[in-house]
Amino acid sequence: MKARHSLLKGFGGYLPDRIVTNDELATRLETSDEWIRARTGIAQRHVAGPEDTAVSMAARAGQQALDYARVSPDDVDAIIVATSTPDQAFPSTAVRVQAELGITTGFGFDVAAACSGFIYALSTADALIRSGQARSALVIGSEVYSRILDPDDRSTFVLFGDGAGAVFMQATDDADGQGILSTHLHSDGRYGDLLYVDGAIGQSDKSAHLKMQGRDVFRHAVAKLSSSVDEVLAANGLQYEDVSWLVPHQANLRIIDGVARKLRLPPERVVITVDRHANTSAASIPLALNEAVRDGRIRTGDLVLMEALGGGLTWGAALARM
Ligand code: ACO
Repeated sequence: MKARHSLLKGFGGYLPDRIVTNDELATRLETSDEWIRARTGIAQRHVAGPEDTAVSMAARAGQQALDYARVSPDDVDAIIVATSTPDQAFPSTAVRVQAELGITTGFGFDVAAACSGFIYALSTADALIRSGQARSALVIGSEVYSRILDPDDRSTFVLFGDGAGAVFMQATDDADGQGILSTHLHSDGRYGDLLYVDGAIGQSDKSAHLKMQGRDVFRHAVAKLSSSVDEVLAANGLQYEDVSWLVPHQANLRIIDGVARKLRLPPERVVITVDRHANTSAASIPLALNEAVRDGRIRTGDLVLMEALGGGLTWGAALARM
């Protein structure tokens, strides 16, 4: 039986021009390139300039995704932006992007699920498309974590970067096995204090800083991402060896390696950006996807597994046939 589902048709990304290396951080913080690389795999990160905002970066990435799919603003029904660093409490980042891109129809809203935000937004867009509420969706992750980091906290400051990534999704009624196969979301608020921001959101509120119990988050990440990977494959009757590409949230190379080992995937089948982007939270998966599609690694017919864990705790996975 043919059922409506969503195809991934367009991809985009934006990274601020300014690159900050580990060595540059080490001139100001008691840290070293060696420590950061060994614990996380991070060598550098892009950091927003005064002109970069969650909206401006999201709009740049979103426009690229529309261009890639060769669609016009009129073709966009829903805009969903995953962000935990919006420029304003409201209106949402999504409606600001809607205006920036000249989209005058449809609807937009933000999703807040920290580093799992893109999986949550993708899942929401897929549900809207499957139910017939939208024929298409622009799904964007956009983050300016540099504005919520404590510049004196070496344990968090070295881990994050800024950027935005986007996908454009379109409905299809053809049951040819392509598109989003399934998405799976989880959260457990009992762990909310392992990773949180201790104040109000907004660029002007310099008092809001990210706090993290890194070791505990790491422990949860390995266990919960492993079970998410099993869950998404079991739901589709697929095995580890069916996966062509792992496109994980890019928090830490050691977490990514752990999941890849479980899947028995060789490193060349894992898309890695954490070395150059650091952790861009909800932007990391669409940025990685954009890179690997554009450089020709991910091709039509490939089975792509995406997974993430973030503050909440929130976590989840999505499987797509390209
Ligand atoms: N440079 C040098 N030393 C440091 C630094 C640094 N930047 N940061 C911490 N240290 C020190 C600590 O003070 C500690 O010193 P001590 O032993 O004298 O007390 C030592 O290094 C070890 O610290 P740990 O926190 O135990 O180091 P760990 O091996 O756990 O690595 C890390 C820390 C990289 C943060 C790791 O725990 C991790 O990656 N956790 C997961 C983070 C994550 O996945 N976040 C994703 C979600 S993010 C989101 O949702 C927004």
